[in-house]
Amino acid sequence: MRFSVTQCLTILGLASSAAADFHILTGPCSIAPGWGGSLSDATMACPSNYYNCSCLLDGDRAGHVINGETPTVGITTTGSNYFKLDGMCGVGNMDFYLQDDGTWLFYISGGDGSVQGTCYNGDNSIKDCNGFSAACSFSNILVCYSYICN
Ligand SMILES: *[C@@H]1O[C@H](CO)[C@@H](O)[C@H](O)[C@H]1NC(C)=O
Repeated sequence: MRFSVTQCLTILGLASSAAADFHILTGPCSIAPGWGGSLSDATMACPSNYYNCSCLLDGDRAGHVINGETPTVGITTTGSNYFKLDGMCGVGNMDFYLQDDGTWLFYISGGDGSVQGTCYNGDNSIKDCNGFSAACSFSNILVCYSYICN
């Protein structure tokens, strides 16, 4: 008997041993830090194997919010219950919906309506990325379990 990845994750109890597929991070950035700069908020989705500044700062493999808002943007809590990411990991745009239990389920936009995975609140740990044009302090706000980036 074969199980899909999602079924396996469910059987394993998700958080215990399964590796996360991607993360959503948001934080304040200082734009052009060497020049007095201005503050801006950035939100990025990064595959777990690209959880570094190549994705967060340079956008390599990154997904971006193109509609709605993540639950936190920069240091602001939004109260949002919906957001959309543009395609990452080779799939199309994805719609994320907040559930009553505080988790988020996500679907491929215009797809067959099947759940692609679940996101849980992250540990809010900070990842700093410093570049020539921006210095950001990203917080790990959502951890998503799926198969799309595998
Ligand atoms: C980020 O991770 C990717 C994949 O492992 C790697 O190719 C890239 O060099 C890493 N970037 C940094 C800044 O460590």
